[in-house]
Amino acid sequence: MKITVVGSGFVGQTTAMRLLEKGLGELVLIDIIEGKPQGLALDLKEAAPVEGYEPLITGTNDYADTVGSDIVVITAGFPRQPGMSRMDLLGKNAAIMTDVIERTVPGSPNAIVIVVSNPLDEMTFLAADKSGFPKERVFGMAGVLDSARLRYFIAEELEVSPLVVEAMTLGSHGDAMIALPRHATVNGEPLPELVDETTLARLFQRTRDGGVEIVAFLKTGSAYFAPSASVVAMVRAIAKDTKDVLPVCAWVTGQYGISDVYVGVPARLGSGGVEEIVELDLNDGELTKLRQAAEGIRTKCEDLAKL
Ligand SMILES: NC(=O)c1ccc[n+]([C@@H]2O[C@H](COP(=O)([O-])OP(=O)(O)OC[C@H]3O[C@@H](n4cnc5c(N)ncnc54)[C@H](O)[C@@H]3O)[C@@H](O)[C@H]2O)c1
Repeated sequence: MKITVVGSGFVGQTTAMRLLEKGLGELVLIDIIEGKPQGLALDLKEAAPVEGYEPLITGTNDYADTVGSDIVVITAGFPRQPGMSRMDLLGKNAAIMTDVIERTVPGSPNAIVIVVSNPLDEMTFLAADKSGFPKERVFGMAGVLDSARLRYFIAEELEVSPLVVEAMTLGSHGDAMIALPRHATVNGEPLPELVDETTLARLFQRTRDGGVEIVAFLKTGSAYFAPSASVVAMVRAIAKDTKDVLPVCAWVTGQYGISDVYVGVPARLGSGGVEEIVELDLNDGELTKLRQAAEGIRTKCEDLAKL
């Protein structure tokens, strides 16, 4: 597997580190800043003897080095600062996404593209549009992260290991994120039987605001440890063809009564990218929220054309 990580900022570099440590492929780390990916790649190679991985990474500013990539992870773009919404990044990051796609696609026409840059849903649409790739080969990372945050907050509340908590979020990466209490379990027990409504609402709101909470602490950037772990879970599913079902910002074609838009849904990931959109048993309220989230994303994607 040849995996290119575009953007060697906090998310890109921690993604590269995790991919190397898991031995998921040969990496190319690229950025517009001269020396940054080269320095980070050298540092990661020097950790190889200690960590016990193969030093299969190239740091570069030249897209020629990315030719023949099987997977391209795009983390290039500005992160949020305190007081900014993800949508405030739209204009600047749309220009960066267009640039990245135009430089990456000709050399890697068969790649699977995982978008990370924000605003996530809109950047995923833009990447698919500009690449012309089949939609099952272009999708975004948000749901794995939002679900991980929710699982951690539930575990913290109930004082259990996050490993015994299962939960999934759908919809958009932002205020229209949908938590599914009926599908959340702790040690196999349904979450709504373990906490009251007020606690559920508080945990879901903290998950929705999960990014803001970290931005407020950091002040000069946004989260990267949990985001990079989430990207790597997706890369692993593709590289190892696991067919894992993960919440992904994926193109829907009629599932859940929604068509022709990117939105967060459970998707089966394998060597072909998104191999199936999995339809959970949602009640009317959950379906309505998912459809509203999809329409919100559709409108914002239409706004992209006006930039
Ligand atoms: N989807 C998610 O859940 C999620 C989670 C965390 C961060 N993000 C987003 O990921 C992006 C990166 O976050 P970060 O913390 O790594 O930011 P960062 O500022 O640390 O790194 C961004 C990097 O992109 C590079 N870059 C800018 N323009 C480029 C171009 N045209 N080509 C190549 N590289 C370019 C910059 O030089 C910088 O090194 C942000 O948009 C952030 O909002 C998304």
